[in-house]
Order: sequence, then structure tokens, then C-alpha cells
Amino acid sequence: MKKKIKVAVLGSTGAVGQVFLWMLSSHPWFELAYITASATKAGRTYAQSVHWVLPFEMPEAIEQMTVKELDIDAMKLAGVRIVFSALPANVASEAEPQLRSAGFYVFSNAASMRYEEDVPILIPEANTGSLSLIMKQGFPRTGFVVTNANCATTGMATAMAPLRKFGIKAIHASTYQSVSGAGYPGLSSFDITDNTIPFINGEEEKVEKEIKKILSINPEVYVYCVRVPVMFGHLETVWIDFEQKPSIDDIIQAWEESTEAQGLPSTPVHSVVYKSDSTFPQHKYAFWGEPKGMVVYTGRLKEKNGAIGFTLLVNNIVKGAAGGSIQNAEAFAAQYGDLLF
Ligand SMILES: NC(=O)c1ccc[n+]([C@@H]2O[C@H](COP(=O)([O-])OP(=O)(O)OC[C@H]3O[C@@H](n4cnc5c(N)ncnc54)[C@H](OP(=O)(O)O)[C@@H]3O)[C@@H](O)[C@H]2O)c1
Repeated sequence: MKKKIKVAVLGSTGAVGQVFLWMLSSHPWFELAYITASATKAGRTYAQSVHWVLPFEMPEAIEQMTVKELDIDAMKLAGVRIVFSALPANVASEAEPQLRSAGFYVFSNAASMRYEEDVPILIPEANTGSLSLIMKQGFPRTGFVVTNANCATTGMATAMAPLRKFGIKAIHASTYQSVSGAGYPGLSSFDITDNTIPFINGEEEKVEKEIKKILSINPEVYVYCVRVPVMFGHLETVWIDFEQKPSIDDIIQAWEESTEAQGLPSTPVHSVVYKSDSTFPQHKYAFWGEPKGMVVYTGRLKEKNGAIGFTLLVNNIVKGAAGGSIQNAEAFAAQYGDLLF
């Protein structure tokens, strides 16, 4: 980048918002210029407003930032071009179209606009080409909204993108999703302590719909989503029926050779990392990798009657949310950055 692009984070005090601020506090291309939370917190410092839940210290650079209300004129005055949204869907459904109309480039975690035809659900390792949909929204004349996937879908789509070439016919999956996926404060401790909950409202439908839109495929999808009492990361078990019959070695090779989205600051050297250790992966590795939390880990590959099974771990609040959004904005800046200066 010729110079850093000024960015805002909406919903900066939530679980996803905290990851945004942690990652953006030292980003090579983006500069944090404006942060918001709900109206009651406006005017306070970030350190006073947030209940910090990440498993490492809050970066000093963000402690004294002032939390503001969402104010389009003030954001323009602050020089903001890119807006990262970590708002609840019901708030985002009103705010994001307004921000787009005001000329901002919005990268959203909310589900409210994901299924609109001209709005991409972008995962740079899987469908960078879908970024061109921003033209249909009016860019460069106007702003746009780019979304990222539901966090459980992100893990699957990232792991499956290099396997698309074998022809994905059917997907059977179960997820074991951490409590941070429900935001902060999220679930009642009474409900989730020492317990698992075999239902996450709307989640299974999201996975079914989004995996098809992201990978441009139309397989049968069967999925159960379960909430489990761990803090971070979504573990998933997946069985895939392929048109071709790849061997386990073919699958490992496809993951190892995948080079999509290289060159973006938030893309790991290998976006999908397989280990043959029979106890791999586990939730406790959610912040492994470089950048932390951006690698999708896979393990336990099996072949049975022509189908391939494996486990995967995605960090739901990093790769599955804020980190994925930042990587999407990097993909945009890499392609269209010259239009911003
Ligand atoms: N958690 C995940 O793993 C995950 C993954 C993918 C996508 N998402 C999506 O990302 C978004 C954020 O999720 P989250 O888990 O971070 O939620 P969260 O922890 O509940 O945080 C919500 C954020 O929005 C702010 N907010 C709430 N109501 C508001 C209002 N009326 N006006 C302005 N700001 C408001 C909150 O501010 P206060 O602190 O002041 O209340 C907080 O900063 C959601 O749409 C979610 O579905 C989450």
C-alpha cells in the first residue's frame, strides 16, 4: 500500500470486535481511526468499555482510544474508507446499507446481507473471484458490502476449496462449537457449564446455504451443529462423497499444494494444515498458527466405501469472523487499492 487506509470497527467491544482491534492495532495496511459500541459506552475509553475475553493482553495502542457512536459524518471527517462491522444482525441490517450508500467499503460479519445476490460471501482461499460482485453494487461509483461466512461454514469452505476439483457430491457434518460463537456475554453459564446443547438456532441452515454459495457447488448437505463448553474454536467432523474417488494422499496433497490468497498479510503460508496424529486437532489449538487463529487445522483422515472423512478446527472469532473480514479487505485493497488514493 502507498499509505495506510483508515478503517472503522463497529461493535468493537464484542467478541468479534475485540479480535478486530487486536489484529488492526498493528496492521501493515490499515490504520484504526474510529471505533463504536452501543450508545451507552460512547465517550469512554476502550479499556473502560470492554470486558476483554481474548487469551492474551489488550494491545496498549487501543486502550486509550475513544469509543464513539455510529455517526457517518464523523467517520468521513476521520478519513475512514473501510468499515468493519461486528454488529448484531438486527442492527447491521439497518446500518450497513446506509454505510454503503454513504460510500464506505463495508466488510461485515453479520448474516443480514449474506444471501443477497450481489453481495459476496468472501473467503479469499475459496472464491476471490466473487469480489467482482462489488461492481454490481455500484463500486467504484458507490460503496459496497462484502460479507464473510458463518464461522462454522468458514472452516468447512476453507478445507473443502482445494478438494472441489474432485467433485463434491454430498457433505455430512457435525460441529462442536465453542461458546464464544454466541458473542459476549452469550449463553447463560447455567445452560452451558458441564453440558452440551445439540441445537444452535439457524446455524445448520446457514451452513447448508453458504457452502453452496461460496464454493459454487450444489451437493446434498446434512449437518448438525452442537454447542460445547469450550471458549474458542469450532471443531467439526466431515464426510464427503466425491464424484472422483480421491485417495487420502490425494487429499493431503491438495491441501499442501493450495496457494490461493498468498501475499495477503493475513493469509498463512498454508491455510489448511493436516497432521496425522490421531488426537488432532483439538479446541485448545484455536490460536495456533501464524497469523494466530488464521490456519484451519485438519486431522483423522479416513476412507470408507469411497467417501472421505476428516476432522477440522477453525478459530471462530479469528478466521471465522474478524480475521476473515480483515483478509477480505486485504484482498480488496490488493486488487483495487489504487482507486483509494
Ligand atoms: N462470535 C462469533 O464467533 C461470530 C462469528 C462469525 C460472525 N459473527 C457475527 O458477528 C457479529 C458480532 O458478533 P459478536 O459475537 O462479537 O457479538 P457480541 O459479542 O454480542 O458483540 C456485539 C457488538 O455490537 C455492539 N452493539 C450491540 N447492540 C448495538 C446497537 N444497538 N448499536 C450499536 N452497537 C451495538 C455491542 O456493543 P456493547 O458492548 O456496547 O453492547 C458489541 O460491541 C454478529 O452479527 C455475529 O452473528 C460472530
